[in-house]
Amino acid sequence: MTENQHRSRDGFGSKIGIIAAAAGSAVGLGNIYRFPCEAGNNGGGAFLLVYLFIVLVLGIPTMLSEFIIGRKAQRNPVGAFRALAPKSAWPLVGFMGVFCAWILLSFYSTVSGWTLEYIVKAVGNDFQGKELAAIERDFSDFHNLGWRNVMWQSVFIFLTGFVVFNGVKKGIERYSKILMPLLLLILIILGVKSLSLPNAGEGFRFLFHADFSKITGKVLISALGQAFFSLSVGMGALITYGSYINKNDNLATTALSVTLSDTLVAVLAGVVIFPAAFSFGIQPTAGTGLVFNTLPMIFNQMQGGYFFCIIFFVLLAIAALTSTISLLEVMVAYLAEELRITRKLATVLASAATLILGVFASLSLTGDTKFVVGRRPLFDGLDFFSSNILLPIGGLLTVVFVGWFMGKRKFFGEITNEGQLKLKMKGVILFIIKYIAPVLIAAIFINCIR
Ligand code: PFF
Repeated sequence: MTENQHRSRDGFGSKIGIIAAAAGSAVGLGNIYRFPCEAGNNGGGAFLLVYLFIVLVLGIPTMLSEFIIGRKAQRNPVGAFRALAPKSAWPLVGFMGVFCAWILLSFYSTVSGWTLEYIVKAVGNDFQGKELAAIERDFSDFHNLGWRNVMWQSVFIFLTGFVVFNGVKKGIERYSKILMPLLLLILIILGVKSLSLPNAGEGFRFLFHADFSKITGKVLISALGQAFFSLSVGMGALITYGSYINKNDNLATTALSVTLSDTLVAVLAGVVIFPAAFSFGIQPTAGTGLVFNTLPMIFNQMQGGYFFCIIFFVLLAIAALTSTISLLEVMVAYLAEELRITRKLATVLASAATLILGVFASLSLTGDTKFVVGRRPLFDGLDFFSSNILLPIGGLLTVVFVGWFMGKRKFFGEITNEGQLKLKMKGVILFIIKYIAPVLIAAIFINCIR
């Protein structure tokens, strides 16, 4: 592929550009909404410990592997595997990623829609002076209004489609660079407030005190699923973004920076949520309500809470948007490049497909829902299937591909920018990708389904 062709795929402008965009994909509802839910349901400290280990030992190598595949092949996930392993079954891994993006975006857009509802509530000063019981009632009433959930979800999918329709890169770069640090700042302010509430110490201990006896197979697979979900790996989003990375950017440090920012935001979200939740008497296992009920309660007790509340939910919506964009982009890049249709048509088709499944996901959360799989609402079923099954399998196959099938020469060439970078750790990195990551991912996965 020539430099010109590379440009024509609309590469990211600068190094900070790709870090910002990949971090924009990684940082989202997964950090602020899903991480506290999962930590709360899986024992707090024990979960955090396993989570951090997995991010470090499995998350970074998998992310790097996706960047390597994407930048080497310069294509969408299906095309990338086809280009690097012609006439093999590997493109199926890419297909699985596109399928996973569809499922993930369908339920992710439900929660993204909630952020819009909460912006409206925040602007209307809806939480002011309310007790916890009233805030909880409002949340469950809203859940039961299926059509309202669907309306916000549709707005969100439309917004995502709009950005992707008009060409992604510049928009994401610009927003991520300014607004992500702002999100970090507001989380720090909220964390300080949360820690100063009565009884906050208990929530802090819940998150940071690891009781090893709580580490079960379920904790391991949940932490693996959460780590991959949060880092946006295991389904080709970062293969797609990797295909837009410039040939002279350092892939290893990019993966490291993205992972560090993502993990920092998740841990900070935990520091905001748990001390406050314990202080207000909200159970750590409260699931969806954990974030949407705890946060308004914190704002209620803060000086300037009205403004903080608006800013927070706006930033949360934007963090969700930079993630939904990357999910839709996986489908759009695939449809446009493989079916050879225009990007615009691909965007319309991918958005419509998402909305169709997404509506059922949203409606499955109302009290009298008929949309259940097994005994769970479709929403939870889609989340479990994509995060705890498809992402680990996708991640496993990705590292196996890079470690065993791509070839050492291509691997070292890509990771050192064809010899331009002196990367002392490259042998160690390959060892982890080839042996440690596949064995550990497979062990956690098999242990859970057995
Ligand atoms: N990483 C995003 C989050 O934590 O909210 C969610 C996500 C985006 C997952 C893109 C997967 C993906 F490909």
